[in-house]
Amino acid sequence: MDYIKWTDDLSVGVELFDNEHKELVRLVNDLNQLIFVGDKVSAMEKALAGLIEYTKTHFADEEKYMVKYNYPDYQKHKDEHEKLTAKVLDFQKRLTEGKANFSIELINFLRDWLIHHIQGSDMHYKAFFNGKGVK
Ligand SMILES: [Fe+2]
Ligand SMILES: [Fe+2]
Repeated sequence: MDYIKWTDDLSVGVELFDNEHKELVRLVNDLNQLIFVGDKVSAMEKALAGLIEYTKTHFADEEKYMVKYNYPDYQKHKDEHEKLTAKVLDFQKRLTEGKANFSIELINFLRDWLIHHIQGSDMHYKAFFNGKGVK
């Protein structure tokens, strides 16, 4: 069973970003599955690294659109992306150093990390982009 379920209330009204968010949800669910079945640590590390890489791509895509359309909250949003990236890299570092484990704690962290940003800051650009004809 999926840990995070995609529902329409997560839609930010821009197809590209919805698709990227769905992929992020899928990657968190995949990692959860690996932890649940107790797969090798190397497999979990690889899944987490893949999630982080995809996150960077996604953040860059949002920022590119924000610059292109002159989104007024661009700087604030970019700062938040940087903070989120730093947070997940810190968790990754703690895992590597043996100060944290692949566990439900990591999955809960990733869920909150992802969902709060989508439902909070990302949702704020919905009306803006739709108003520019970006859907
Ligand atoms: Fe996003
Ligand atoms: Fe964002």
